[in-house]
Amino acid sequence: MNDRIPLLIDTDPGVDDALALLMAFDDPRHDVVGLTIAAGNVGLEHTVANALKLCEVAGVDVPVFAGCASPLLHPARDAAYVHGRDGFGDIGYAKAAKQAEAEHAALAILRLSHEYAGRLLLVALGPLTNVALALKLDPALPSRIARLVVMGGAVTGHGNITPAAEFNVYFDPEAARIVLEGFPHIDLADWEATMAHGFSHDGFERWLQADSPKARFYEAISKKTREWSSDRRGDHWHSADALAMAFALDPEGAAETLERPVAVELDGRHSRGATVVDWRREGGAADNCRILMRYDQARFEARMRAALGA
Ligand code: BDR
Ligand code: CA
Repeated sequence: MNDRIPLLIDTDPGVDDALALLMAFDDPRHDVVGLTIAAGNVGLEHTVANALKLCEVAGVDVPVFAGCASPLLHPARDAAYVHGRDGFGDIGYAKAAKQAEAEHAALAILRLSHEYAGRLLLVALGPLTNVALALKLDPALPSRIARLVVMGGAVTGHGNITPAAEFNVYFDPEAARIVLEGFPHIDLADWEATMAHGFSHDGFERWLQADSPKARFYEAISKKTREWSSDRRGDHWHSADALAMAFALDPEGAAETLERPVAVELDGRHSRGATVVDWRREGGAADNCRILMRYDQARFEARMRAALGA
């Protein structure tokens, strides 16, 4: 048996998802056994096509499974204004030769959780619709997952899509609640950790000049997002999914984490999709999340750079 850690990624590519996926493909300690695809940053048709294209560019043969085309209950707005209408910067790339598998993403999550029972690392980089559906189909799913890492939430209420909520949770709060209530332990990399781990546009642009197909492709698909970001957020860029993936692949790089109970708010004019952390542990709920507070910045940047072949 191969002793690499089997890694299943649920994702909605998306520019920052793409960087995270390149990091995962590049890691010698992990074997990416599948990509299950969510709708989120843009519609499912695009997120599936983007996942297939990225695999082709990276030269990896990883099965891609299409999942749910919409949130569990309520329609939500995508993030095309950040990632481009097609989620990959509208560069008009040629479609990948390969197609998605016939199996639904939620069923693939369950099947792979049996195949790699007790060893599977599941990393969720998008809205949690597929994972929630898998959990509803089989509530014993968490017992077969070695570790679940989620990019989502804003742990002190500094959201990015509303004042209180982060995009992945806000897109499908019902799904997020199902997952946070169904898994006894989650490693959470939230938006506020993302903001604390920015990296300079200039340095990143230098990496993107590398003579590698991955760097060239990433330079093209991320251009609009980087421009949008530098207009809005200044000289540092942020990649939420890349930070979550660094935490997933290399948890030893975490400089500070805090275990706390985290719940998802579904209601409220201002608070739908907020992640409410019981910082003082007053409610008596069990700690269900290990929240990433600080990560070794040099280690994070070295991993992104290597993933681009720079
Ligand atoms: C998250 O939302 C998406 O737009 C990104 O891909 C990331 O997963 C950040 O809030
Ligand atoms: Ca994402």
